[in-house]
Amino acid sequence: MSYPALRWLRARSSNEAMPTDKRVNKLKSVAEARQAGFTVVIEDVFDPHNLGAISRSCDAFGIQQINVIFETHPEFDPKEVGKNSSTATNKWLDYRIHHGAEEALRALKREGWQLVAAVLDPAAESIFEADLCAPRLALLFGNEKTGLSSTALKLADRKVMIPMRGIAQSMNVSVSAAICIYEVTRQRMARCPQLLSMAPEQVAQTLDYFLDMHEHLGRRNKKRRKERAKERLEQSGNEEG
Ligand SMILES: C[S@@+](CC[C@H](N)C(=O)[O-])C[C@H]1O[C@@H](n2cnc3c(N)ncnc32)[C@H](O)[C@@H]1O
Repeated sequence: MSYPALRWLRARSSNEAMPTDKRVNKLKSVAEARQAGFTVVIEDVFDPHNLGAISRSCDAFGIQQINVIFETHPEFDPKEVGKNSSTATNKWLDYRIHHGAEEALRALKREGWQLVAAVLDPAAESIFEADLCAPRLALLFGNEKTGLSSTALKLADRKVMIPMRGIAQSMNVSVSAAICIYEVTRQRMARCPQLLSMAPEQVAQTLDYFLDMHEHLGRRNKKRRKERAKERLEQSGNEEG
């Protein structure tokens, strides 16, 4: 039995709102368009808006999992950045939170990820000339002020740079992430298109996660609507009194 069918049975028995066929089809097509073996690692970015913008690019290019390292800056919840509606892309992504760069990057390496650090170093490969067709590729981006840590630079397998032709020395981290993600996707489309979609089991798992999220957001929005209605009622009662 397919995942949506199981969900339907579960929702019917628990009296929960079911996603419409249109919604299920939309979520299914997003799951099918997620790329295989492609992630980003964001190290100690402290402006939540930057993480929000990176998340939006990840969603647009089909990256489902984002690794976030909080080591030197206070932690925040990436799912609570920006808009609070169910259309906010960060609600639908998986965030893997780490508390130390060394531990996080060593774990990713053990899992077979090639770590490609985005750096401001003219000795690095130009992102437009680097071969970015590794089957498991993790792009690393650093903090707004100090860039990637020495640990990240030491553990990276390769370093790439977006050549700069302007007056500024660097780009905003979210802009640089969008450009690097675009370039990896472009190379995959041209040279390794088999990496542009995940295996059927992973697609099914991702769709399951989306349907869980749909239920969660539905319940949360219903609760919020009830709370707002109660507040309005109390307010009008106070005004009349
Ligand atoms: C605002 S920059 C950090 C600037 C910092 N002063 C430095 O020297 O790294 C934030 C992050 O964006 C990425 N970045 C910005 N411009 C880039 C470029 N031209 N090429 C590659 N990565 C870039 C890098 O990952 C960098 O760590």
